[in-house]
Amino acid sequence: MSQTPHSAAVTDSPFLRACRREPVPYTPVWFMRQAGRSLPEYRQVRAGIGMLESCRRPDLVCEITLQPVRRHGVDAAILFSDIVVPLAAAGVDLDIVAGTGPVVAKPVATLADVETVPSLAPEQVAYVAEAVRLLRSELGATPLIGFAGAPFTLASYLVEGGPSRTHAKTKALMYGAPDLWHALCGRLAEITRTFLRVQIDAGANAVQLFDSWAGALSERDYRRYVLPHSKAVLEGITEVPKIHFGVGTAELLPAMGEAGADVVGVDWRTPLDAATARIGADKAVQGNLDPCTLFAPAEVVESEVRRVLDEGRAAPGHVFNLGHGVLPETDPDALTRVVELVHELSRR
Ligand code: CP3
Repeated sequence: MSQTPHSAAVTDSPFLRACRREPVPYTPVWFMRQAGRSLPEYRQVRAGIGMLESCRRPDLVCEITLQPVRRHGVDAAILFSDIVVPLAAAGVDLDIVAGTGPVVAKPVATLADVETVPSLAPEQVAYVAEAVRLLRSELGATPLIGFAGAPFTLASYLVEGGPSRTHAKTKALMYGAPDLWHALCGRLAEITRTFLRVQIDAGANAVQLFDSWAGALSERDYRRYVLPHSKAVLEGITEVPKIHFGVGTAELLPAMGEAGADVVGVDWRTPLDAATARIGADKAVQGNLDPCTLFAPAEVVESEVRRVLDEGRAAPGHVFNLGHGVLPETDPDALTRVVELVHELSRR
């Protein structure tokens, strides 16, 4: 299957220009988790429909993805889905439990368990391709970001059986059975590649690889156990800009920069100019307003937005975002105001 050609207006959008480190009329902005529980219109359409079920309905995915674009005027849409959708589609027995996150019925512990991790056939996520095509027909000049979970973060859910603060079982497997670990991550990298490929072929204009929990590792362990697998995913994608994100990654930024993305996502703990010094001046950065800033008074939000924009100027491209996802209790009007501020303050 070949990739859908992107319209000139999308290709020339501030978001894709910033990802390619080209001059922009203003700094583009979108928010991780911009579609979701902070929006009353989201809670309304999701009422009585499970998370995984809603991800399998292209009409619903299209509506939920468009909601923050309509409301906030963000510069990019992100597909409404979840990092565990391809695992569930491939046949892993799991659910997304409201207020908890992904829960896996039979956690991976042995080589026999690793061998039961199935591969993903593109047809198993045909509903995702359908949603992307629908969205491309609705989005006009606004780019659509596709995404997937990186091998480490997916492995953590599979090994722990659910969310974990310490990732203790995951690390125990990694240190104690490195061959098994690499076999598991190899399988997960393959699933991730297929999932991203389906989205790109259907018309996604950029992709983000979420390695949300990689910050739990030292740089040394990241390089040994994780980097080769994330690199294998990112190297396979050449058609669209690639963003690579994790939380608590200050020490990992140089290594994450080597994984092959065009843009490195940075959480709120590392100033963007310090991040650029670590990553190198050949990558764009994305971030990094602390999501909790949105609960502060308006004048604090404004000065923090200004600071992030100033620090972002050290990089050859800056996509404004939060340092992690929108918290469900966030006032949506505070997000709309951030979009206006970013555009106003950065206009050249
Ligand atoms: O707007 C967007 O960013 C797109 C949608 C999106 C979701 N999940 C929807 C979702 C994206 C990009 C994700 C990725 C994701 N999922 C990550 C990486 C990003 C990150 O936050 O670091 C991770 C680690 C997951 C796993 C996961 N799924 C968690 C931790 C949760 C939250 C559990 C909860 O209820 O608090 C989910 C569920 C989930 N994924 C929700 C949404 C909107 C909430 C479910 C609901 O609304 O009922």
